[in-house]
Amino acid sequence: MEDKLIRLDVNHMMADMLGLQCGVNPAEVDALAVFAKRAQENVAAKRGTGMLGWTELPYNQEEVVEKLLNVAAHVREKFDAFVVLGIGGSALGPIAIQQALNHLHYNELPKAKRNGPRLYVEDNVDPERMAALLDVIDPKTTCFNVITKSGATAETMSQYLIVSDLLKREVGEGWQEHIIATTDESRGNLIKLVKSEGFESFVIPNGVGGRFSEMCPVGLLAAAVCGIDIRAMLRGAAMMDEACKSSDVWKNPALLEATLQYICSEEMGVNVHVMMPYADSLRYIADWFCQLWAESLGKNVTRKGMAVNVGQTPVKSLGVTDQHSQLQLYTEGPYDKVVTFLKVENYRAETKIPHGCEEIPDVAFLGGKSHNQLIQAERVGTEYALYRAGRMSQTITLPEVNANTIGQLLYFFEMTTAYMGEFLDIDAFNQPGVEESKLASFAVLGHPAEKFAKKRDEMATQPKEKDKYIL
Ligand code: PA5
Repeated sequence: MEDKLIRLDVNHMMADMLGLQCGVNPAEVDALAVFAKRAQENVAAKRGTGMLGWTELPYNQEEVVEKLLNVAAHVREKFDAFVVLGIGGSALGPIAIQQALNHLHYNELPKAKRNGPRLYVEDNVDPERMAALLDVIDPKTTCFNVITKSGATAETMSQYLIVSDLLKREVGEGWQEHIIATTDESRGNLIKLVKSEGFESFVIPNGVGGRFSEMCPVGLLAAAVCGIDIRAMLRGAAMMDEACKSSDVWKNPALLEATLQYICSEEMGVNVHVMMPYADSLRYIADWFCQLWAESLGKNVTRKGMAVNVGQTPVKSLGVTDQHSQLQLYTEGPYDKVVTFLKVENYRAETKIPHGCEEIPDVAFLGGKSHNQLIQAERVGTEYALYRAGRMSQTITLPEVNANTIGQLLYFFEMTTAYMGEFLDIDAFNQPGVEESKLASFAVLGHPAEKFAKKRDEMATQPKEKDKYIL
């Protein structure tokens, strides 16, 4: 299939469709056009610098891609399982890409039908999960990809300790060949280990934060190991970058999207953003989006230090499954939500529905149709139900789910997020709110450093919990 652009359709966001009370007046978009132009120009001017290093990933990785493909080929030849150890931005991308671009039951396929080793992405420290992983892999035939930009993340480094200990015991000499590290070039603890142990390694480039890192070795290694066309992903990202070059809000999809979401959240009180793919393959793209949107835009201070509390709450919802669990709220609950449908034009399989049950007309009418038709009809039905209830929705159409369109989609959301940061005048690339919980948990665990001791003292000043509130 030739590379086709994905499309953003915002008809169901607009007052033309929903009326002035419920939809966005196009005049409001026009009124923000200058603001939008400035946002686009600011991002364009800062490309490739500071925390905008990710904008250049589609263009500056040819050498890295060569190395990724070579290492991936070696891993495919030598190992039966590939385990990613990472969390947040170091895990959600690899999970989303594998689900989108490989067989939906990839790990269960026989080896001959798989594009590479079985893939596991371990993004939690639930002890039962680690125990369960160790039940299904053999360390002797497993390669572990430890991914952490900071090299300081407790979850990932604790997993490293467990796995390296296991490898030393089970594999012995040469255990280091079972570990590939993906981390910062010079900062953090993992790079020290790369140097002392001689692990194979990949660099997370400067200016590429966790949640913007899928299209660098963080995501590309696991994808290449599992046979995904990583060059096509990068090509897709470049196509979307090109589509976002205009500073005219009506000609740049990411800019229009940011403008609309800014109007929704700042002017209409629409503070919940529901991401609803109509494809199982895209279900974890919704998780990836949720992190990108939440961690980038949920901020309490502007870049100039003014107190604010901004950020839409992203929610994951799967079509059609969640029509039967969440849609009631979306059509009749508070007017605080916007729904983004991810539509797939051509699914990679067709499931025909056979004729039958002729005596029951309500069932028989399904015969001769296909699940492809049913899922499209249900998406149209949901869009209509929202419209009738005066609720906003929009649709991003993927001609097909493939490496190119997924590259486009991720880049589209990343660019939209960068523009939103400009609109809201916040730092979309930091995450100070996450730091507090990290500090507190290290303090609880008894980390000896002074800052954690201080945190322990501070935590002791919390009001005492009362028994009467515990039933
Ligand atoms: O987006 C982010 O920056 C975070 O979600 C990080 O990816 C996450 O906290 C893991 O950090 P690190 O890669 O440093 O281990």
